[in-house]
Amino acid sequence: MRFRPVLPLRRAATTLALLAMPVFLGGWSWIQGPQSTFDTKGPVARTQLEVFYTTVWVTLAIFVIVAAVLTYATLKFRVRKNEGTKPADPHQGHGNPLIELSLIAASIGALVIIAVPTLKAIWYSYDVPEEQRANAYEVNARGLQWWFQFEYPAEQIEGAGQLVVANELVIPAGRPVRINLRTSDVIHSFWVPKLAGKVDMIPNRGNHMWLQADEPGYFWGQCAEYCGESHAVMRFRVIALAADEFSAWLENQKKPARAVPAPAADAPKAAFASYEIEEWKRNAPGYSAEFDADPLKSWTAFQFPNKDEDAALVAKGRALFAEKNCVTCHGVRGHEGAGVTGPNLTHFGARTTLAGGLLQNTKENLHRWIVHPNDVKPGNKMWMGIGTHTNVTMKGYLEWDGDTRSYTGTRHINVSDEEARALVEYLQSLK
Ligand code: CUA
Repeated sequence: MRFRPVLPLRRAATTLALLAMPVFLGGWSWIQGPQSTFDTKGPVARTQLEVFYTTVWVTLAIFVIVAAVLTYATLKFRVRKNEGTKPADPHQGHGNPLIELSLIAASIGALVIIAVPTLKAIWYSYDVPEEQRANAYEVNARGLQWWFQFEYPAEQIEGAGQLVVANELVIPAGRPVRINLRTSDVIHSFWVPKLAGKVDMIPNRGNHMWLQADEPGYFWGQCAEYCGESHAVMRFRVIALAADEFSAWLENQKKPARAVPAPAADAPKAAFASYEIEEWKRNAPGYSAEFDADPLKSWTAFQFPNKDEDAALVAKGRALFAEKNCVTCHGVRGHEGAGVTGPNLTHFGARTTLAGGLLQNTKENLHRWIVHPNDVKPGNKMWMGIGTHTNVTMKGYLEWDGDTRSYTGTRHINVSDEEARALVEYLQSLK
């Protein structure tokens, strides 16, 4: 009987070629995306990447040695064509103390090589190193289904407590930032791939981590623990600024919401730069290449009021914001909004993203989010409302039937396209 190779050579070659395709097609760009852990921009992420490489090199060395021995044995003891039949088994030996002890020693050696840098990295990334602690900036990050709230305990606002923002964490560059991790509902996980590894936000447990951005930059973050139906779209951004720009940002954020004076009744109407209302598909992405070409520059440009804003439309939007119940969940400091369950919108217009870092903050995207929130982020509380299982009810867009304990599909909040245009103009004026 003749032995045949199990996997034909041609099939093996095709599999290898397919596996290598991303490298040939995309070069290394596929590991340099906005959430790449290989493109590190801070000391914590760098330390963690070094541990990864140490592990890879050690395991690669083991793989090469084992594969070489296996190949050697396979070739040396194979059945040769002219032998025709299976030859007698080679000499079987066991119980060689020298080989066994050396293998145990080699395994321990490999583990030590991996364990020492791993333990050092765990210690290092646990908290801001002692000598840098005095220079550290402290913030709280809070996970909610499905967005992030960032609190600045060092920035107290008279009569309003600490500064609170949503979905875009602005930090000083070149300084360690200690982050206290909290959650208001289920387990979430805080992850900024280019700056530091993920750490969970756990109910009733105070977790923390730290990170530092080497230089000013715009970084992508992501919830990394399954937390419900919109977990995959629970994102955020981290913007690192130079010291003076960071102070200027804090000053502006501490101010109450920007008020746009309503035009006199007889004033000529400003030419409102209108936008097309697009037909969106569910889960259609909300980014533009223009923005991503230089996100930090785009962010900076976003801090100033729109030149073509329509004061009359802003005033109408502000009134609608109260009428449509938005105020029950969203806070707008200095204006009508007083809610705390949804993201604080005092300076919403200066944020580059909306819907939990999911969509770029453009008029078209904001319109889409206001009119069809459930198509963007399924199950969100703006759509479903909150507290419907208790006596306290804050109704969302959908009507809740207390008897059948289900959503009826009847709309409780209706926003027409015209009303949405006014709300968009108002929200984007909040710089
Ligand atoms: Cu929050 Cu996943």
